Amino acid sequence: MAKSKIKSIFTCQNCGAQRSRWEGKCSDCGSWNTFVEETVAVSAAGSAYAANAGIWKSHSGSGSLQPTSLAKSPSEIKLRRFDTGLEELNRVLGGGLAEGSFVLVGGAPGIGKSTLLLQMSAGLAKEQRKVLYVSGEESVQQTASRAHRLGLMSASVDLASENNLSVILKYAEEKKPAILIIDSIQTLYLPTIESAPGSVSQVRECSGHLMELAKQKGLTVVLIGHVTKDGSLAGPKVLEHMVDCVLSFEGDSSYEYRLLRSVKNRFGAANELGVFQMNSLGLQEVTNPSELFLEERSQSQMGSTVFASLEGTRPLLCEIQALASPTNMAMPRRTSVGFDVNRVHLLTAVLDRHLNYKLAQCDLFVNVVGGLKIIEPAADLAVASALISNEKRSAIPHQACFFGEIGLTGEVRGVSFPELRLKEALKLGFQHFYVPQSNARHLEGFAQEIKSDKNKKIVYVKTVQHLHQVLQS
Ligand code: TYD
Ligand code: MG
Repeated sequence: MAKSKIKSIFTCQNCGAQRSRWEGKCSDCGSWNTFVEETVAVSAAGSAYAANAGIWKSHSGSGSLQPTSLAKSPSEIKLRRFDTGLEELNRVLGGGLAEGSFVLVGGAPGIGKSTLLLQMSAGLAKEQRKVLYVSGEESVQQTASRAHRLGLMSASVDLASENNLSVILKYAEEKKPAILIIDSIQTLYLPTIESAPGSVSQVRECSGHLMELAKQKGLTVVLIGHVTKDGSLAGPKVLEHMVDCVLSFEGDSSYEYRLLRSVKNRFGAANELGVFQMNSLGLQEVTNPSELFLEERSQSQMGSTVFASLEGTRPLLCEIQALASPTNMAMPRRTSVGFDVNRVHLLTAVLDRHLNYKLAQCDLFVNVVGGLKIIEPAADLAVASALISNEKRSAIPHQACFFGEIGLTGEVRGVSFPELRLKEALKLGFQHFYVPQSNARHLEGFAQEIKSDKNKKIVYVKTVQHLHQVLQS
């Protein structure tokens, strides 16, 4: 057998770059002071991966990697999916947990990742799927007591408390679960690598082995990952490349809503959003989030509009508020919660130029109500309307909703899936729809539908000047 020798390497804890010497600044990702010395056992064959290969060798060889002809019928090569028992989670995963997939769930501490996956285990167990839930953070008693408190009791779920990946792989071989849940990847270690759990080398190697398990044995592996202070997933980017699906669990600590978003998904739409509410019974699904986010909205208010957004494949209505207040400061303040502050700068410049406003001399505050984060530029029209309403000191009718992107020349650009957004708005009782002119051709059917009702109208907006006019009437 090839002899191993111990080698010392320096790994950037931010991006995973490796150097033979310490560097102050990582020349790959540009971050400072992130190189940490790590020792790895390198076999004569060359890599640490090969040194650890013995562990997963016993797991490979299922023959599932044989080429398959595409001429086979869809039922023969169908991707099977498991029902997780949570509709919101199923949708975010693209229609259930795909068999043999490798999923990463990231989120801030205390957001509810362990709770979510514990509830998912119970849901899977109802479908008679065997689940092995391994926690590296809590003891079996702690996990079990939490599960019992949530009313989850099932013989199909096995709990373990372990940090050593070699032992976990043995458990997996003994118990033969269909789904393996690891809480969390940052607490795992391989004894052959001499760096601390959570270091880039450990995370990379451990996930490499778990990926082998998923791809070769067809076991579905779900990992919990921690996030760093700035909200990105801890560990190397390579982890995100490896997995099939990255779900991010977010939420504002001042609200009880929790948002589960698919950041990457090989088996479904990215940016799909699932909404949950955390209470004493654990996570409850919110099936109609638009109602929840508009719940506290009172009658027509100055500076408040409703944006019909699209989160993945689901339309979601939310309230956007804007406030401009004149200031004598040379650098006026721009504060934006839930909306990209750079787009606030852009909209301010466009409105100033095309409508002769003086927003450049005002402090500006933009807020998306309910702790939601809007990433679509389609929110521009709603933000601009809130600012215009604020400038004109007149309220926007509360049954009006908006969507559309604003360009630098003041034009209003079309957005995707306008009809889906409007149908959701119609369902919630909205009557005035302000949409981009270029979406008119996609909305002929919808326009016909509401034509008979005199209270309802669609306004096709061409430019910001046009928006200014129509908001006056
Ligand atoms: P947890 O799942 O442990 O979070 P994570 O694994 O992401 O660190 O959830 C911890 C929080 O959830 C904790 O602050 C308490 C709260 N919680 C409830 O409000 N109700 C419940 O039923 C449970 C289980 C937790
Ligand atoms: Mg946890």
